[in-house]
Amino acid sequence: MPSQLAFLFVAMALATGRVVRRDTADGFPNPNATQLGFIENIADGKLSNAPPPPSLNESSIPICQLISFNENFEVAFFSSLIENITTDEPGFTLPTEKKEEILEILATVLAQEQLHAIDASNVLKHFNASLIPEPCEYVFPGATDINSSIALAATFTDVVLGTLQDAAEGLAVNGDLGPIREVASIIGQEGQQSGFYRLLLNQKPSQKPFLTTNVGAFAWSALQQFVVSCPFNISEIEIPIFPPLGVAHVIGGQTIKPRDQRLSFVANLTGSSEAEQFINETSPDLFVTYFSGQLLPISVPVEDVEWFGENAQLRFEADFPFEENILVGLTIASLTSKDKFTTYGEVVEATIAAPGLIEVTDEGLSWDLLSEEDL
Ligand SMILES: *[C@@H]1O[C@H](CO)[C@@H](O)[C@H](O)[C@H]1NC(C)=O
Ligand SMILES: *[C@@H]1O[C@H](CO)[C@@H](O)[C@H](O)[C@H]1NC(C)=O
Ligand SMILES: *[C@@H]1O[C@H](CO)[C@@H](O)[C@H](O)[C@H]1NC(C)=O
Ligand SMILES: *[C@@H]1O[C@H](CO)[C@@H](O)[C@H](O)[C@H]1NC(C)=O
Ligand SMILES: *[C@@H]1O[C@H](CO)[C@@H](O)[C@H](O)[C@H]1NC(C)=O
Ligand SMILES: *[C@@H]1O[C@H](CO)[C@@H](O)[C@H](O)[C@H]1NC(C)=O
Ligand SMILES: *[C@@H]1O[C@H](CO)[C@@H](O)[C@H](O)[C@H]1NC(C)=O
Ligand SMILES: *[C@@H]1O[C@H](CO)[C@@H](O)[C@H](O)[C@H]1NC(C)=O
Repeated sequence: MPSQLAFLFVAMALATGRVVRRDTADGFPNPNATQLGFIENIADGKLSNAPPPPSLNESSIPICQLISFNENFEVAFFSSLIENITTDEPGFTLPTEKKEEILEILATVLAQEQLHAIDASNVLKHFNASLIPEPCEYVFPGATDINSSIALAATFTDVVLGTLQDAAEGLAVNGDLGPIREVASIIGQEGQQSGFYRLLLNQKPSQKPFLTTNVGAFAWSALQQFVVSCPFNISEIEIPIFPPLGVAHVIGGQTIKPRDQRLSFVANLTGSSEAEQFINETSPDLFVTYFSGQLLPISVPVEDVEWFGENAQLRFEADFPFEENILVGLTIASLTSKDKFTTYGEVVEATIAAPGLIEVTDEGLSWDLLSEEDL
């Protein structure tokens, strides 16, 4: 094991608490020059040394805040996963040789995510943003063993791959050409990670010809499920947060079969002003709208609507039109009050609850890279 890796693991072991990650030996999120050099060595590359763009549109600040917040979450996730594998947490045990190699890969991923996070917060610092997200305290619902943890990593990485498309478009619309090349570079980087996680899960590495798109508000809403508490006021980041849209039997990166089927959804719409006009209606004019690949939003009507509980909780079913649209890989569902969209941004305007994250997996390879036997 290279000595820097050994140093990293000592750093991990010293870190107190399971999910909070601050004041570790690598100095993240504020490494000094020595510590930054150490992170860059493990990451197999350095931060860009290009000067910052001359200006940044105010409208691009929330985009950078979302990227920064998300990268901090990813750093915490991979720190926790590395710690679980290193300490042979039940469900995370691997044979020695495989353990060392997977830990070496994950140490590199962690350092790369740290540099993504540092990069985004450097932009915010340079432009004197009123809020620079710091690491929060997180939970990782559904990540209970190595397989479910990698499945969660695969899903949130797919979500990021869609969200960064929205970030690039948003920066372009705002006239901020400067950071777009770097965002594109990160999209490819996260795509390489996604291919690796998919292979570990017996899936073909390349998921779709055109990766599923997303919008910033859905990514921001999805991230809330991981947050226990933050050392800043989350509401100061000016991106809407929607009530989550639960998809029955699809929890924490679990998957469904590749076929036409009806899915059951659940949403708690208590306190949602957008939902008020529909409450207790048995056939409300509501739709499930899906994002898949670069297809225009696909909407289907909600059916078998049932309101329950004292407050505004809603259960319903909707078709999942797999065959016609070849919905392999990630599909992002939202509950909307409209069903005809020509852009993804319009969906946000009509959203009542989102996102529901659905992964369809194909039959799969038989490599079993995560089996408990040796390589
Ligand atoms: C960075 O911090 C580490 C740990 O506190 C310390 O050992 C090192 O000397 C510092 N390096 C610089 C350049 O300040
Ligand atoms: C690490 O293990 C703990 C305890 O089993 C679990 O709660 C947590 O979600 C795991 N972290 C990851 C990233 O899998
Ligand atoms: C940020 O604030 C500092 C100190 O007030 C100022 O010197 C600097 O010019 C500001 N930067 C930008 C990009 O506005
Ligand atoms: C800043 O962004 C807004 C919203 O996209 C846009 O209307 C405006 O033209 C942009 N300003 C500049 C200077 O490009
Ligand atoms: C958090 O920020 C929001 C939006 O600026 C504000 O309305 C709210 O009062 C703040 N909450 C606290 C506890 O400061
Ligand atoms: C539904 O949401 C409301 C408001 O956020 C909350 O008070 C309530 O506990 C939630 N109900 C359930 C069953 O989660
Ligand atoms: C909806 O129906 C439930 C159960 O009958 C009731 O408690 C609730 O007050 C109703 N809500 C509205 C907004 O009508
Ligand atoms: C993870 O899945 C593999 C199949 O790829 C299986 O061999 C292994 O036992 C699973 N590990 C756990 C902890 O369930």
